[in-house]
Amino acid sequence: MPKVTFLPANETFEFESGKLPYKGHGLPESLLDVAMNFGFHLEHACGGSCACTTCHVVAKQGVNNLSEMEDDEMDRVEQAADFQLNSRLGCQAVVKGDVTVVIPDWNRNYVSEGH
Ligand code: FES
Repeated sequence: MPKVTFLPANETFEFESGKLPYKGHGLPESLLDVAMNFGFHLEHACGGSCACTTCHVVAKQGVNNLSEMEDDEMDRVEQAADFQLNSRLGCQAVVKGDVTVVIPDWNRNYVSEGH
């Protein structure tokens, strides 16, 4: 049962791998899909198709429990406002085990304004 923690909200969600109902945005069981399943707001302006950077998160723990980054995601996430080591796109990073991610300031502000 992978656990996903979103910081700084400090909200943790647990799900059974392969059993998460797909919510239609991003890759199934991606960070975005998990967030949507639990009603946690993670911005996703392009609908989870790897065409924006609003779902940008930074993995703090459990980096290796996320799917490997594909070239598409790499090319896109490098354009994020505050790209850093372990930056990922929430819609592309598929959860394989326990992981803690931080939603960067820029996205957070964006989220609270859009909420
Ligand atoms: S939602 Fe646009 S790239 Fe993830």
